Amino acid sequence: MLTNPGLYIHLPWCIKKCPYCDFNSHPLKPESDLQSYTEALVLEWQHRRDSFEEPQTFASVFFGGGTPSLFAPANFTQILGEVSLQVGAEVTMEANPGTAEHVDFGLYLQAGINRLSIGAQTFNNLHLEALGRIHAADESKSAFVSARKSGFDNINIDLMWGLPEQTLADALHDLTIAIDLGPEHISWYQLTLEPKTEFAVRPPILPKEPILAEIETKGLELLEEAGYARYEVSAFSRDRPCQHNVNYWQFGDYIGLGAGAHGKETNRSCPERTQNPHQPRVYTASATNGERRAIPANELPFEFMLNALRLQDGVPFSIFGAQTGLAWERVRPTWDSLVARELVRDNRIATTPLGYRYLDSVVAEFLLD
Ligand SMILES: C[S@@+](CC[C@H](N)C(=O)[O-])C[C@H]1O[C@@H](n2cnc3c(N)ncnc32)[C@H](O)[C@@H]1O
Ligand code: SF4
Repeated sequence: MLTNPGLYIHLPWCIKKCPYCDFNSHPLKPESDLQSYTEALVLEWQHRRDSFEEPQTFASVFFGGGTPSLFAPANFTQILGEVSLQVGAEVTMEANPGTAEHVDFGLYLQAGINRLSIGAQTFNNLHLEALGRIHAADESKSAFVSARKSGFDNINIDLMWGLPEQTLADALHDLTIAIDLGPEHISWYQLTLEPKTEFAVRPPILPKEPILAEIETKGLELLEEAGYARYEVSAFSRDRPCQHNVNYWQFGDYIGLGAGAHGKETNRSCPERTQNPHQPRVYTASATNGERRAIPANELPFEFMLNALRLQDGVPFSIFGAQTGLAWERVRPTWDSLVARELVRDNRIATTPLGYRYLDSVVAEFLLD
């Protein structure tokens, strides 16, 4: 039985592919059929819904991409009309500046979206160009202002740092502009060069390590002073953490619909992964043909820690057994050894400040558990 699952819905098209992006996103073409894709999503959901032992009511829905704001409000109405939501459920849509300025955000609100995530990335036009973005800084600001005016009271701004030729002053300036807009949430990601992207083939010159370290230290201070509490490695909020993502980090269940979407569903105490075909065309033609496999028990401790330890405050010990079906004894020797080295806490599944700085190494210790 799934416990309090979230629902992720992937909308895979963008105006153009950004050179750093390894998400399942595809350039929009005249033949891209957003209406047929919407119908495929509804079909997949109806098929999945009928397979559960009990009706599912969601605490959160996340429309991610790609560029979900390329879809019309009517598409969201159609999809959400099929889904049952808990009272107060969080329903997020990612919106790209550059596709959003002619959009009436109020119509998305009416369709049932109540949280927006705006992909500003940076407010420096030269850096936006270096990132291959289609928008200018002013468009991010006007998208934010227009979303607010339309009634959105829960907005996230995505920013990236460590951009080609970025200085400490540039990065702090980006954060200051975002903070001055006053969103409930800021996601602040360090730019990574992902395999198989254009940036991996032709890497730009990124700031050197001492500058990166300074950007990180000073940026974290700035966010904290402005009242944005860090609750996950890259997530900061003024009392409105993203419920949908918190569920991922707690290793909770979620259903993934759409091209390339994956999910985690626990059936009879056994966590399983679901995976859909990546190509939108293939998905649209056979939306109910996703794959499913049990997560092998020897991968569960690592997968669990990879998620839970990203939360600054971690999770209680009881969550480990509840989400993996494994006994804590299985990881106790590793945990105790990390406690002895003051990298994790002894009263909950969480790192110490030192462990948080070396998170990748801490998590890697669970690869063999
Ligand atoms: C699903 S993505 C895209 C959302 C939206 N399409 C956009 O680009 O504005 C969510 C966020 O991940 C971040 N991101 C994407 N690729 C990244 C990379 N290579 N390194 C760091 N952050 C990245 C960006 O901040 C982006 O807004
Ligand atoms: S707009 Fe977002 S999802 Fe699309 S290619 Fe760029 S980063 Fe990736």
